[in-house]
Amino acid sequence: MLEEVLINKQSFFKTKYMGNLEIIDKHINHILEFDQGRQISNIGGYQSNFINFGFEELINFTTIAISKILEKDNLQPNLDCFWLNINSGTNHNVGHIHGFNLMSCVYYHKVCCDKSPLVFTSMVPAVEPYEKIFIPNNQDLIFFNGIYPHRVDGCGHNDHQRISIALNYNLKEKQ
Ligand SMILES: [Fe+2]
Ligand SMILES: [Zn+2]
Repeated sequence: MLEEVLINKQSFFKTKYMGNLEIIDKHINHILEFDQGRQISNIGGYQSNFINFGFEELINFTTIAISKILEKDNLQPNLDCFWLNINSGTNHNVGHIHGFNLMSCVYYHKVCCDKSPLVFTSMVPAVEPYEKIFIPNNQDLIFFNGIYPHRVDGCGHNDHQRISIALNYNLKEKQ
């Protein structure tokens, strides 16, 4: 008798945002009016500071989706932080993780083309150099464990603009 035991299984989840897009546009414009942005994992482009207003419908939507993903693990999500990304041309994000004990989410508000994917990389690329590419469409929502290393490539077209919102959720045991 020979039994196979799974050591590691990584997955992401995806769905489509069905909420009001005009309200999101309004809130984005409000951020751009007042927030100079910051430099974290982004090379060029715009990344906002953590947002502390608005986007209620999007947050509700992502919270419900993550609650469903976590149902069987008896965990519940609590929004930790979220921010806005606006990039064009060769602007990109180098490999990074979001953190431990987190569920991360990216909402693709406006995609420019299929040449700016989200790329999940191996935890130890030198030993296990796999990549899993996700090519987003408008209103896609993707959810993944915050410890998964990933990067975002730039499409190289300077007249292309892409807008996304990233959210991190803390995970707590359900009481
Ligand atoms: Fe990220
Ligand atoms: Zn593009």
